[in-house]
Amino acid sequence: MRIAVFSTKRYDREALERANRSHGHVISYFEPRLTSETVVLARGYDAVCPFVNDQVTAPVIAALAEGGARLLTLRSAGFNHVDLRAAHEHDVVVTRVPAYSPHAVAEHAAGIILTLNRKLHRAYARVREGNFSLDGLLGFDLRGRTVGVAGTGKIGTVFCRIMAGFGCRVVAHDPYPSDEVRELGVEYVELGALFERSDIIALHLPLTPETHHLVDAEAIERMKKGVMLINTSRGGLVDTRAMIDGLKSGKVGALGLDVYEEEADLFFEDLSGTVIQDDVFARLLTFPNVFITGHQGFFTREALDNIAGTVLANASAFEKGDGDLHVVTLEEVRGRS
Ligand code: NAI
Repeated sequence: MRIAVFSTKRYDREALERANRSHGHVISYFEPRLTSETVVLARGYDAVCPFVNDQVTAPVIAALAEGGARLLTLRSAGFNHVDLRAAHEHDVVVTRVPAYSPHAVAEHAAGIILTLNRKLHRAYARVREGNFSLDGLLGFDLRGRTVGVAGTGKIGTVFCRIMAGFGCRVVAHDPYPSDEVRELGVEYVELGALFERSDIIALHLPLTPETHHLVDAEAIERMKKGVMLINTSRGGLVDTRAMIDGLKSGKVGALGLDVYEEEADLFFEDLSGTVIQDDVFARLLTFPNVFITGHQGFFTREALDNIAGTVLANASAFEKGDGDLHVVTLEEVRGRS
């Protein structure tokens, strides 16, 4: 197939080239994001491969279909950036990479917890400045703490196992509870109870119209004073302004983010020489108890190779009408992915 890859970085290209040795597709790499301005680049391609911050909106899908594209082979697990209804209307099949390394994201979430709890980000800077004072670096034992996991799919399950390994009490919420998770000793509870009981809350559920701003002012109000919240899923799950109020009042004791509501204008680019225009994001950066990474949860060697392999295997399966095709269906928009 002729495949147009958008938002390409060097590491994407290298992984896709390695994987393509066993597929033989004709791949063109475009650095810009897929938007209504850049969609013209995809004209004449059979398949398009977007990334998480590409704008795969209804007009973009209409233009892709008009230009001959029949397949959107997403190189992500999440698909909230795609208008699935429009894809359905234009007979464009959407596939994703359902599991490339749940360990990558779950381990990153655990790393953020350790960083925030033991203030490793501050300790690193201090020691380099020759400041060996421990004032302000006091943490707590994870053992015995209650960790609330919202979403126990592939990533949430691995995360539950990691936190159980630290000796934490793990409670979870998911409309589809899993026996595998129960066997780890995890207790399923309602979302409200999860908010009320947890010392640390981690989000591992997809962003859908129903889960948008799942963590809002009301949810924060129900949480324990000093709660730590970790979001490695999608920025839109958290109302950032409400979170800033929670941080200012001390209700939220620590915030760890790998994703941000308005990340599309920031993440994956080197903006170190420019002035950040997003005042909400800039405010987040001023808190000593906020730790942010730029959507790097997925970024391990194993994950990149699995992503590239599945993206191209989806294209091959679509082309040949044979093999595993990981189609995203409209059902999944309703939250079961
Ligand atoms: P998954 O599809 O295996 O699991 C998602 C789980 O969330 C399912 O068990 C589902 O039943 C549950 N869920 C749906 N609605 C819910 C609700 N209202 N409350 C509680 N649970 C709900 O997905 P996976 O692979 O575990 O990924 C989770 C999310 O992580 C993805 O949707 C994606 O947004 C994000 N992600 C982030 C990455 C990063 O680099 N930071 C990389 C990969 C995924």
